[in-house]
Amino acid sequence: LEIYLNGLTGALPPYSVDPAKLQETARSLLEEGPYWYVAGSAGSGETDAANRAAFLRRAIVPRMLRETTERDLSTELFGRTYPAPLALAPIGVQSIVHPHGELATARAAASLGLPTILSTASSHTLEEVAEAGGPRWYQLYWPHDDEVTLSLLERARKSGYDTLVVTLDTFTLAWRPNDLDRSYLPFLRGTGLAIPLSDPVFRSRLERPVEEDLDAAIMAWAPMFNGRAHTWDQLPLLRDNWDGPIVLKGIQHPDDARRAADAGMDGVVVSNHGGRQVDGALGSLDALPGVVAAVGDRLTVLFDSGIRTGADVVKALALGARAVLLGRPYVWGLACGGEDGVRHVVRALLADLDLTLGLAGFRTPAELDPSILEER
Ligand code: FNR
Repeated sequence: LEIYLNGLTGALPPYSVDPAKLQETARSLLEEGPYWYVAGSAGSGETDAANRAAFLRRAIVPRMLRETTERDLSTELFGRTYPAPLALAPIGVQSIVHPHGELATARAAASLGLPTILSTASSHTLEEVAEAGGPRWYQLYWPHDDEVTLSLLERARKSGYDTLVVTLDTFTLAWRPNDLDRSYLPFLRGTGLAIPLSDPVFRSRLERPVEEDLDAAIMAWAPMFNGRAHTWDQLPLLRDNWDGPIVLKGIQHPDDARRAADAGMDGVVVSNHGGRQVDGALGSLDALPGVVAAVGDRLTVLFDSGIRTGADVVKALALGARAVLLGRPYVWGLACGGEDGVRHVVRALLADLDLTLGLAGFRTPAELDPSILEER
């Protein structure tokens, strides 16, 4: 209705509703470094492209003459009902594109009742971001220092983050030509990396305060968070110290999904980090059916990497994802208009999803299954 009324009065949305155009606008506003930090991916960009190709290879077959007037996107995740099957993916150092960074993102998500997933590499502290209210999940980059890990978990719990998302695919940064050809330090200096650098246990490890020697702090931070993987036998540390749901992000192989279930995890995010880690890895949507077949009855399967349109969400849900994470598109909204820009992008995607679902002949996400898709 809002769309039709705006059309009648000639009122246009402040930014394009076309994700590609919004990215262009963001590009015109950002310096090269921040733009490529978001737009870039690993290696030759093969997996980033494979993410989109996997959507394009599957087509929705719409059904007609069905009652779809009253649609309901609400979705239960881990015992809590959200208005739509959508969360905002964890994206690090967001103040590189807008000074309000994660605060703006969290406020936009809160105003829509959707979960924001706060990155460990956030430019605002998790306590500051919690003030936005609204549902919030905490994404852990798992430190190689158990006391720092426990400190982050305790801070997140105290600040009302109810779901823990542990990202496994980025124990070290991949070969990213766009990053290697540029330096981000000038941008990062201004933004902080507040969560890890503000952590009291992390700070107690430093010889000099962060404020006096940021370079040394970053040098101490890097080996703690970067360089080597954790292993399956270390998961009990997290399970024993987090009461709420735990979701492993970056799962692509059905066997890994089974191990996650065996380890007492509650969910997985089928994701390849937006093609930013293993270049040459399969498109994320191509990994989804195998994971759903392996653990769909035991775990909540979430999905990201390549979601751009309502049709994309329909396809991921049809293949068995309970909900999807939106990544780069909301960051372009953030760059264009802070909190309003993020809200604009998310509302546009939800409107697109709602219309596509109804026009395809369905009322709720639960009605979708693989039979509504055809492989091209
Ligand atoms: C990310 N992603 C990410 N994931 C995570 O767990 N912690 C993080 O700090 C970040 N940071 C980050 C920064 C930027 C600039 C991007 C683009 C991505 C990955 C993110 O959560 C998600 O998996 C991808 O963004 C999904 O791919 P698309 O849909 O954005 O292409």
